[in-house]
Amino acid sequence: MKRFYNFSAGPSMLPESVLRKAADEMLCYEASGQSVMEMSHRSKPFEAIIAGAEALVRQNMAIPDNYHVLFLQGGASLQFHMLPLNFMTLNKKADFTLTGTWAQKALEEAQKLGSVNVVGSSKDKKWSYLPEITGADPEADYFHICYNNTIEGTQYHSIPDVGNVPLIGDISSGVLSKQLDVSRFAVLYAGAQKNLGPSGVTLVIIRKDMMERIPGGLPAMLNYKTHADNQSMYNTPPCYPIYMFKLVQEWIRDMGGPEELYRQNEQKARLLYDFLDSSSLFFSPVEKSVRSLMNVPFLTTETDPEKADALNKKFVKESDAAGLVNLAGHRSVGGMRASIYNAMPLEGVEALVAFMKNFEAQNS
Ligand SMILES: Cc1ncc(COP(=O)(O)O)c(C=O)c1O
Repeated sequence: MKRFYNFSAGPSMLPESVLRKAADEMLCYEASGQSVMEMSHRSKPFEAIIAGAEALVRQNMAIPDNYHVLFLQGGASLQFHMLPLNFMTLNKKADFTLTGTWAQKALEEAQKLGSVNVVGSSKDKKWSYLPEITGADPEADYFHICYNNTIEGTQYHSIPDVGNVPLIGDISSGVLSKQLDVSRFAVLYAGAQKNLGPSGVTLVIIRKDMMERIPGGLPAMLNYKTHADNQSMYNTPPCYPIYMFKLVQEWIRDMGGPEELYRQNEQKARLLYDFLDSSSLFFSPVEKSVRSLMNVPFLTTETDPEKADALNKKFVKESDAAGLVNLAGHRSVGGMRASIYNAMPLEGVEALVAFMKNFEAQNS
């Protein structure tokens, strides 16, 4: 059966070669005589898998040696709480930029544990831009940004300068979309289900000096030290997602790393944004300089809300029937959204633009 072009925001497309390799190894991984799903996490083959996953992501992201790399569970959403629990501990305050739904959720969890200072918000214009930073607190325990706003379609193409305050980035939907200077951050975290593999594993990268801030008495599973001291194997890790994560990292390495991914992502995004900017029916609501390479929300120029809703539904239904699936916008914002992560081939975006041109001709 033919595979569709899947524009889902996550879980999302995986490279076909990765899926094929996983299929080949499904029943029997190398000489182990077992599937990775059946294997003890304390076995030699699995120890090699998790060590390989870590070595490859360190290489692909150029993660310096003074950072821990952890594979955790609970998604990026658990990080929203673990971060303040572990690191909002000196002055019990943190700075946040408020740039969309996920930034808001991270902020709400931090608020449960200390005082949160909003140093910039783009809520006034429906999150369509990235705010200037004003009133940053040099005494804040950390400064949090959402690097790529999955729902709203903005991305920090340059990283804010926050002085000596540790910078924490939610990179769930932007990880490895382009090169990122890890050394600018104290902590980075990402749920895997966009650019890293299937859901079930969360990548967390922590500068080692941050570990000194972790207070005593935290529940073991919520303490980063537990996971760092046990090489992410304090309890049974999500073995199969980690194996898939490793295969995706091999694919990224073989593709030429983040520089090559960036070249391709820019080409794909430009094709779509150029069309949106020239279309008489569709447009991007996002300010040009901060448009995401990964998530492209778009609307129609129809202003009557009922007609616009009907047109959106028609678009989503017809695109779906044409094998371009999951193009509905997030339920909180409506409209449409094309998520064009690393694994989306150029041909997928070309097919989408051709479909949109045709739809425009028939519905204008
Ligand atoms: C930027 C961002 N942060 C956090 C999350 C939540 O991730 P999870 O579902 O892994 O908890 C998402 C999910 O889409 C996201 O896009």
